[in-house]
Amino acid sequence: DLPSFVKIVEVGPQDGLQNEKGNVPTSVKIQLIHKLVDAGLSVVEATSFVSPKWVPQLADAKEVLKGIQQVPDVRYPVLTPNLRGFEAAVAAGAKEIAVFASASESFSKSNINCTIDESLVRYRDVTAAAKKHGLLIRGYVSCVIGCPVEGAIDPSKVAYVAKELYNMGCSEISLGDTIGVGTPGSVAAMLEAVMSFVPVDKIAVHFHDTYGQALANILVSLQMGISIVDSSVSGLGGCPYAKGATGNVATEDVVYMLHGLGIETNVDLNKLMEAGDYISKHLGRPVGSKTAAALRKL
Ligand code: HMG
Ligand code: MG
Repeated sequence: DLPSFVKIVEVGPQDGLQNEKGNVPTSVKIQLIHKLVDAGLSVVEATSFVSPKWVPQLADAKEVLKGIQQVPDVRYPVLTPNLRGFEAAVAAGAKEIAVFASASESFSKSNINCTIDESLVRYRDVTAAAKKHGLLIRGYVSCVIGCPVEGAIDPSKVAYVAKELYNMGCSEISLGDTIGVGTPGSVAAMLEAVMSFVPVDKIAVHFHDTYGQALANILVSLQMGISIVDSSVSGLGGCPYAKGATGNVATEDVVYMLHGLGIETNVDLNKLMEAGDYISKHLGRPVGSKTAAALRKL
């Protein structure tokens, strides 16, 4: 049984733009977020309050978050790797934060410069502070299928990190196939392991389309009861600390598939494509969604 409604979490402004070589002006980031919300997306991940030495692309996090005209009932989560980022996010008006751990030790080291268990200790402080402020918290697990260094990741490792994040108060656990190596079989096994610890309605899936498997992986996730899907307008993205990772699955393609299945999203595909055109023009490249490319030819 497929869900009748799927909540899409748009991650283009964060996961997408963090990987762009050229500088994207702050005003363009803000406009993109406004256009995505205007298209009906109810959750738009806005930016990251991370070290500008690590991710210079998002050094304007404060200006972006303050510059957004926040619409009631729309959520604008921001990534916070530590208390310092958390405090900066709150000062800039964040009402929702996201912490990001990894199921792979090597990736944890290269992405946030600490072990998995060290990151969990850190995130216990961040989530405690967030709860005190009454903020919502998303928890990411990266490398849920494979790691660029370690290869295949055992589902039990993913389940462990997901359970820890859930127990410290994350209201949604997003499972990231950071390098896009998953196929429906490995994804199903991983989800089954996580579902013994985290209720299915609290699980989101986050696929990168490196091997063209993302839509198949989303479909198998829906069949297993998942109803929250992360995606990126025009397929922007990749992770600067995951070599070879390409963009997230394109939001336009996800919306096309879901609507084709009779599943509601509240997203207006035409307006979404306009947001995709807008950012693609700024980046000087063709739209990265197959759906948008096809519909633009009609
Ligand atoms: P570190 O070097 O171990 O920490 O980095 P540090 O405390 O020594 O800090 C280094 C410098 O950054 C210092 O500056 C700090 O003050 C500063 P200096 O004293 O040398 O001038 N600093 C900060 N500045 C601003 N905001 C902060 C902050 N913290 C420290 N919050 C750290 C550790 C975690 C900070 C670093 O590794 C980092 O920022 N990593 C973030 C990397 C990142 O953003 N990766 C991409 C996001 S994850 C992702 O996209 C995956 C996802 O899509 C899911 C999936 O696909 O799997 C979500
Ligand atoms: Mg990602």
